[in-house]
Amino acid sequence: MSGFLANWAQALIDPQAFRDEQRRLALAWTFLGLAGDVARDGDWFRASIATRSVFVQRFGEELRGFENVCAHRFYPLRRDARGSGPVVCGFHGWQYNRDGLVVGAPICKMVFGKLPHELGARLRPIELATCGSMIFGRFPSSAAAPSLEQYLGDAFPILQAISHVKARPLYMERPIHAHWKLNLHITLDDYHGPTIHPSTLGRHGWLPSLSMRRYFRLGANSAYLFSDDERCFDRLLAGCRSGTYRSDHFFVLQILPNLVVAHVDADRPFWYCNIMQYVPVATDRTTFRSWSYPAPFTADISWLARTTRPVTDLFRHPIYLHYFKRVVDEDATVCERIQEVAHQIDRAPMLGAQEERIGWFEDSIRDLAGLTGKM
Ligand SMILES: [Fe+2]
Repeated sequence: MSGFLANWAQALIDPQAFRDEQRRLALAWTFLGLAGDVARDGDWFRASIATRSVFVQRFGEELRGFENVCAHRFYPLRRDARGSGPVVCGFHGWQYNRDGLVVGAPICKMVFGKLPHELGARLRPIELATCGSMIFGRFPSSAAAPSLEQYLGDAFPILQAISHVKARPLYMERPIHAHWKLNLHITLDDYHGPTIHPSTLGRHGWLPSLSMRRYFRLGANSAYLFSDDERCFDRLLAGCRSGTYRSDHFFVLQILPNLVVAHVDADRPFWYCNIMQYVPVATDRTTFRSWSYPAPFTADISWLARTTRPVTDLFRHPIYLHYFKRVVDEDATVCERIQEVAHQIDRAPMLGAQEERIGWFEDSIRDLAGLTGKM
């Protein structure tokens, strides 16, 4: 396939095209959050699947997910990012159980002439599945749909291994006034580093050769590994499967629809992981969310550095986050500037050798948005 269609930029400005696309993407597995945020009974967090607000809550051993809309008058049940406690609507006090059924409603007999459980009101459930400590969700559909493991393919064992988060990750969130796919494109672009990120990634970062940049198409997803070994992806995959992968090179995975997971050597020998998500809000609005944490893999860290790490991390984490945030902000600014002229784009972009994953992404997202059926 060709990657971009000539009219691809229509999706950046046309609300109807955006709604159609999002309605279909609601059926695709979408990253929602980390298991650490719903560790105890009653814990919940809010997330979004294709612009629709949802929440995930722990009920004992089980995680359940629902659309974040009361069955009575559509008030959003969960207003904060996360919390703990029973599902009680803040508008009229309706309460729901783990199956999403209404089990309590104030003066119900008087106002509805029946008891709460006789109302037949229930929350719309979402399907959940986990990969390591990553929780994914989708709206159910009547059509046969792949399991999360099938959907992620070779990315599954890598995400399972990399999401082994030991402490609370460093969380970041910011609005970006640009279409969510422009944001994905820039994460798949290894050409812009020296011009856009001179103070973080280096002013003279043009690589004299492409030999270290290794791109892999993983079904609908893709990976970039910085390595001199042409079998680096097989080694990464085998190492993640067997639990023997050692941090020794940068890699980044792009997972449809809107997830990017990176393994970064910002301060060797200390490696970090970033889980990054570009949450669609409107044609020209995206919410960026990220979780950063020390890589869970073994690395060549000296005894002294390892022993003093709890102290040095107190400085290392904020410094890392500072530079990470700067890169995110610089990328966001580029996307916002392209969004300003999106109505003028009437042709496909020219993609060079370090941008080919962008074309793969466009192919894959078009397939996903087109083939997952109608709701
Ligand atoms: Fe960038």
